[in-house]
Amino acid sequence: MNNLQYEFGMVGLGVMGRNLALNMADHAVSVIGLDLDPAKAAALETEAGAGKQVRGTTSAEEFINAIRRPRALMLLVPAGKPVDASIASLLPLLEPGDIIVDGGNSYFPDTDRRVTELADKGIHFFGMGISGGEKGARFGPSMMPGGNREAYERLRPTFEAVAAKVNAEPCVSYLGNGSAGNYVKMVHNGIEYGIMQLIAETYDLLKRGLNFSDDELQRVFQQWNQTELQSFLIEITGEILQKTDEETGNRLVSMISDRARSKGTGKWTSQNAMDLQVPVPTIDTAVLMRDMSKYKEERVQAAKLLPNHTLQADAPTDRNELVNQMRHAFYFAMIATYAQGMAQLRVASEAYNYGLQLQEVAKIWRGGCIIRAVCLEDFRQAYEKNSELPNLLLDPKIGQDMMDRQQDTRAILKLAIDKGIPMPAFMASLSYFDAYRSETLPTNLIQAQRDYFGAHTYERTDREGIFHTLWNV
Ligand code: 6PG
Repeated sequence: MNNLQYEFGMVGLGVMGRNLALNMADHAVSVIGLDLDPAKAAALETEAGAGKQVRGTTSAEEFINAIRRPRALMLLVPAGKPVDASIASLLPLLEPGDIIVDGGNSYFPDTDRRVTELADKGIHFFGMGISGGEKGARFGPSMMPGGNREAYERLRPTFEAVAAKVNAEPCVSYLGNGSAGNYVKMVHNGIEYGIMQLIAETYDLLKRGLNFSDDELQRVFQQWNQTELQSFLIEITGEILQKTDEETGNRLVSMISDRARSKGTGKWTSQNAMDLQVPVPTIDTAVLMRDMSKYKEERVQAAKLLPNHTLQADAPTDRNELVNQMRHAFYFAMIATYAQGMAQLRVASEAYNYGLQLQEVAKIWRGGCIIRAVCLEDFRQAYEKNSELPNLLLDPKIGQDMMDRQQDTRAILKLAIDKGIPMPAFMASLSYFDAYRSETLPTNLIQAQRDYFGAHTYERTDREGIFHTLWNV
């Protein structure tokens, strides 16, 4: 067994690395794992069970020598310094043509730096987003690899074997050059933040604004998961709302502190969207609402000083009708969120020379990942019809879906305003739609103001040229 040349090497046998290695073993991919912790290295073999070509080791030399050439190895270590440290320790043992895949949520400029540094030594470096958490890694994640096109062929059979499948199609595809894979995963997470915020706002309006009971709420999400909203995040929300806290007997979710944490990928999405000048207001709002949640003491103080007397404002009494309106509004806002993320990917692909095919992105997001949803199939078809589609809202079918739901979105937001329930991500989604479909925006006035106080000049609607006016003479 020890002379076996393993198909794949896994560095880091924590939750993600171990589960992905076991997934490989289940698909008859021979895999050797490296971890400095002997217990983790040994656990890999026992967990895999008999009959699998799996080995764990704590020796980098043994690890590298046991991988079939050109070697394919994946790092599943925390993003940042640990990635550089792992590369530095393995590099002296590697040969030109070998491939290192970083499977963590690395910041995409770090990946570009590593690609360049390693290319000098003849090593191919791939940044690959992996989505689906622990369960996804074990039973089928969505995988977003970017790097050298030819080198990908060495990785393809393994990745296609372990990825989630939708209609027998694997949720992995070569995405593009350099940091394309990490960039796509970053935007995936931005969309994830947006949809999570939309779900949280829905929960707030129904529970605090309209006094839905916990049982009613749980039923709403479970029913929605049988509709056009069917998705991983809606599904798990139904399950979360059902869970009882054993200590208090209350629903567990109501016992959880409302200070949200984050690891940064949503913020990176927003920051980079600003750099690229792509509006992603729902994602921005999701990031800022997590920030708002941290000001707990101030919010408690303000709640006393500025009480919400409008919470008891009248609301329509037909609950079925309300739930339907809410479902339409949710679909509307969710599509607007995906549209923003996809538009960002389109601009980024151009700016960073990724060569992204958006139909491939939509295709591999249909299964395995956190933002998987039935609507991704519509997106895939939209990009298949027109690979140059600038925005999903311009696809006739998706546009019609939005038109059909916009009035209900307005009705829900009016209700939220009357009740003093904050729904900024819904509002951002609706305003995005309203702005995007406005032939004219009031930014002519902004141009006039800039020219008034700063002589910044303006262009005219009726003729070419750059103009400046002495406004106050
Ligand atoms: C995934 C998730 C995963 C992770 C997020 C959490 O696709 O599997 O997105 O990558 O759970 O990074 O992000 P925050 O901690 O920032 O919410």
